[in-house]
Amino acid sequence: MSTDDTLEARLQREAQFHDTKYSGGDSYPAHYSVGPTQYVYNRMRDALGSLDGKHVLEVGCGEGWITRDLAKRGARVSAFDISPQAAENTRRILAADDLLERCTVGVMPAEKLQYPDNSFDIAVGFAIIHHLDLGKALAELHRVLRPGGVAYFAEPLATNPAIALYRRLTPQYRTPDERPLVLRELPQLLSAFTHYEHQEFYLTALGAIALTYLPGGARLFPGLSAGLHAIDRMVLRAVPALGSWAWYTMIKVTK
Ligand SMILES: C[S@@+](CC[C@H](N)C(=O)[O-])C[C@H]1O[C@@H](n2cnc3c(N)ncnc32)[C@H](O)[C@@H]1O
Repeated sequence: MSTDDTLEARLQREAQFHDTKYSGGDSYPAHYSVGPTQYVYNRMRDALGSLDGKHVLEVGCGEGWITRDLAKRGARVSAFDISPQAAENTRRILAADDLLERCTVGVMPAEKLQYPDNSFDIAVGFAIIHHLDLGKALAELHRVLRPGGVAYFAEPLATNPAIALYRRLTPQYRTPDERPLVLRELPQLLSAFTHYEHQEFYLTALGAIALTYLPGGARLFPGLSAGLHAIDRMVLRAVPALGSWAWYTMIKVTK
C-alpha cells in the first residue's frame, strides 16, 4: 500500500467514526456531561483577543460550537472537517444564529487543504491534532497561514499514566488511528515555525473530573475544579515539567 493509500484509508475511518458520532451515535464519556473542556476553550478565547475583521481558519470544526463563537466575535471563519456530518451540523447551528454569511464550512482533510497560500491571520483547532497525520497537516497549516500568522491548538496529552490506562479501558470513545500528543515531540514537529509556546491544564483538577463518576459528584464539579485550577496554575508555574502529566495543553504557534 502506498503512503497515499494509507492516508486515504485513515481519513475514511475518521470520517465514518465521526459521521456516526455526529448523527446521534452515543460516543461521549460520562464526564463530558459537566463540560470539562470549556475551561480550556475559555483560556484559548482569552488568548485569541480581538477577532474583529480577522480571517480565521478552524481545523476540524466538529459540530461548530467554536465556529459559532469565533463568528459571533467578529471573525470571518473558514471551518472544515473530514466528516460531512460535522460540516452539516456546523452549517445548521451557524444558520440558526444568522452567521452563515461570515463563514464557509468545508469537507476536507487537514493534510490536503483547499485554501491558497498565506490566507489566514489565525488558525484554531480544538482536540484535533491527535487525529491527524501531523507532518502533513502542519506543513499545510504553515502554507496557508500568512507570515506572522498564529495558530492556537488545545490538545489532550499522552503522558499521564492514569489517563493512558483510562484510554486503554475505553476504546469505544476513540478512533483506531488517534494518538494523543507528547510534549517532548513539539520541537521537532514545529521546527518550520518561528516560535511556539504551550501551557498545560488539568493536573490536580483531574480530581474534579474523577469525582463526576461518584453519586452527586457532578454537582461539585464547578466549585471544586475552579479551586483546583488555581492550584494547578501555581504548581505548573513552579514546576513546568509536571505539565506532561496534565490532561490538556494549549499551544500557540507563530509562522
Ligand atoms: C475530537 S473531535 C473535535 C471536534 C471539535 N474541534 C470540537 O472541539 O468539538 C475531532 C474532529 O476531527 C475531525 N477529523 C479527524 N481527522 C481529520 C482530518 N484528517 N482532517 C480534518 N478533520 C479531521 C473529526 O471528524 C472530528 O470532528
